[in-house]
Amino acid sequence: MNLPKKATIIEVGPRDGLQNLKTFVPTEAKIEFIKQLKSAGVQEMELTSFVSPKWVPQMADAPAIIEECLDEETRNFVLTPNQTGIDRLLSTSCRNAAVFVGVSNTFNKKNINKTTEESLQELEPIIRDLKAKNFFVRTCISTSFYCPYEGKVEIDDVLALCKRFEGFGVDELSVADTIGMANPKESFELFSTLKKALPNIMITAHFHNTRGMALANVFAALQAGVDRFDTSAGGLGGCPFAPGASGNVATEDVVFMLEQMGIETGINLRRVVVALENLQPHLNKSYESQYFKLAQLDTNQHV
Ligand code: HMG
Ligand code: MG
Repeated sequence: MNLPKKATIIEVGPRDGLQNLKTFVPTEAKIEFIKQLKSAGVQEMELTSFVSPKWVPQMADAPAIIEECLDEETRNFVLTPNQTGIDRLLSTSCRNAAVFVGVSNTFNKKNINKTTEESLQELEPIIRDLKAKNFFVRTCISTSFYCPYEGKVEIDDVLALCKRFEGFGVDELSVADTIGMANPKESFELFSTLKKALPNIMITAHFHNTRGMALANVFAALQAGVDRFDTSAGGLGGCPFAPGASGNVATEDVVFMLEQMGIETGINLRRVVVALENLQPHLNKSYESQYFKLAQLDTNQHV
């Protein structure tokens, strides 16, 4: 079996996890959540996003989050799709940008109000400029398997888009199953293709667990040579403009599976559980995480 000795968890809970929640989570609670996840050993994290507060009200407090949560030890990302967001990012001391675009045109239009090609035209000079300024640039590729509006997305289209971003000079491609519809065979096929075609770029897998296949997809991606996974504490998450998308694969479930297989993550699960317990009173929902549920039943036995 082709398995790595270590894997990197990119915690997207503070961004993907919270962005879709209708009840506003107080900024202080978000900051505490982020700090506790870092103390659990998370090395890379999407802190928040610079997007329109009219479109995504939950992320309106991005400046305060960035102000309080940047540190030297963690690779802290701020997600944004356009020049306005990059201008705001440049006014902070964050030096890790995450831009995003959908393979599917219809999805991109619903999410960002631009066609995929229009987004590419806008992002190319942005990325080249960020690289000239020594930023780490991550690009999130949405609807890489299925689109909620257009259906099945072809591997060749994902590869072509990824290659465009390779040409712009990005450091990382986070390739997403936005609506949680991919199966492990598709995950293995796409990630094998990308790893082979793009050997000099970090490839990260981003799975949503809408149909319960996310952990199986993580395992398939591992076998394709992927050792970086976007995960969300508590299994929170979902894109507001992708109908039917539910939470990301839970950080705790992925870490537990990987560690059980002898793959080191550096994440302390007890501390992730504490971070989730502290966040819980501010949420109007329960967590979609098998590990968290077990931990609540019998802390000593399962954490
Ligand atoms: P628009 O209406 O076409 O934009 O929306 P606009 O340029 O006409 O501007 C409209 C207003 O938004 C203006 O303000 C701008 O200043 C402001 P107003 O004059 O009305 O007061 N604005 C901004 N404000 C803050 N930050 C910005 C920004 N840009 C413009 N960056 C826009 C276009 C992109 C703004 C809008 O469509 C938007 O905000 N979309 C949000 C999309 C989003 O956040 N989706 C979720 C994240 S992606 C995701 O979850 C997928 C991922 O997890 C991977 C996966 O699972 O697939 C990454
Ligand atoms: Mg997502």
